[in-house]
Amino acid sequence: MPSSASPSTHRVTGSEPVGPYTLLRLERGGLDPGNPGQFFMLEAPGRLLPRPFSLCLAPPGELAFLVDPIGPGTEALCGLGTGDEIAVLGPLGCGYRLDVDRPLLVGGGIGIAPLPYLAEKLGGSPPVVLGFRTEEHAEAAALLPGAEVAVDPVVVTELIGPGFDVMACGPEPMLHAVAALCPTAQLAWEAPMACGYGACYGCVVEIDGALKRLCLEGPVLDAHRLNGHVRYLVPAESAGAVSR
Ligand SMILES: Cc1cc2nc3c(=O)[nH]c(=O)nc-3n(C[C@H](O)[C@H](O)[C@H](O)COP(=O)(O)OP(=O)(O)OC[C@H]3O[C@@H](n4cnc5c(N)ncnc54)[C@H](O)[C@@H]3O)c2cc1C
Ligand code: FES
Repeated sequence: MPSSASPSTHRVTGSEPVGPYTLLRLERGGLDPGNPGQFFMLEAPGRLLPRPFSLCLAPPGELAFLVDPIGPGTEALCGLGTGDEIAVLGPLGCGYRLDVDRPLLVGGGIGIAPLPYLAEKLGGSPPVVLGFRTEEHAEAAALLPGAEVAVDPVVVTELIGPGFDVMACGPEPMLHAVAALCPTAQLAWEAPMACGYGACYGCVVEIDGALKRLCLEGPVLDAHRLNGHVRYLVPAESAGAVSR
């Protein structure tokens, strides 16, 4: 949790398309980039509540986020231009443990977002496998040069060899498939989040058999802690409606 839940204001330094996604660059100011897999709440222009995003890249003086425009908040963020200002809070939550012997980074779709910063923090060039729905989405693989890429109907789990310490982020069905293959994997889960620091209980899911706030316990969790499923206290649709 940050020392205070007050966001700070940051200027947009650039916004560039990466396939169908947008890489949004912000002036870093005094913010710590945190650990890979942690997230930041970004103000979505014209929306009541901020939205959670994993840090994608931490170039000197900047924080960069890869945004998939799937709804009003993400579309507004993709529409920001250089010089615009937004409020940012973070880093929040718990990221990946980096004390692994044989890392393999696994991403599905926009789940690629935290992996470039994770690869940088692991040092060297860890192996990476990525899965995308279309060739256009697969253009985002350019953020991780050397990655092996699967495009539908080939699924990314077909690229996972034995003996790796898997660190994954992607859609829920992919995370379940990865957990079944690699029970010791670290997985970045998602739930609708309205505050990001434990105040709203909008992100409660079943963790270790009890209802807990994903924004504090995760979003990265060892595979066994979800017992193979995510169960929202508030259905995702209702939480999405509240967040407008
Ligand atoms: C920890 C974390 C990190 C994230 N990192 C990224 C990232 O790096 N890049 C990125 O593009 N997106 C990321 N997301 C997802 C992103 O926050 C949502 O896509 C965004 O909040 C949607 O806002 P919207 O207003 O565009 O759409 P909304 O209208 O709010 O949502 C569109 C639909 O998606 C559902 N939905 C929204 N958010 C979630 C969620 N988190 N889980 C399940 N269903 C949801 C809604 O119920 C609705 O049906 C992350 C989410 C979390 C929790
Ligand atoms: S997002 Fe508010 S408690 Fe987790």
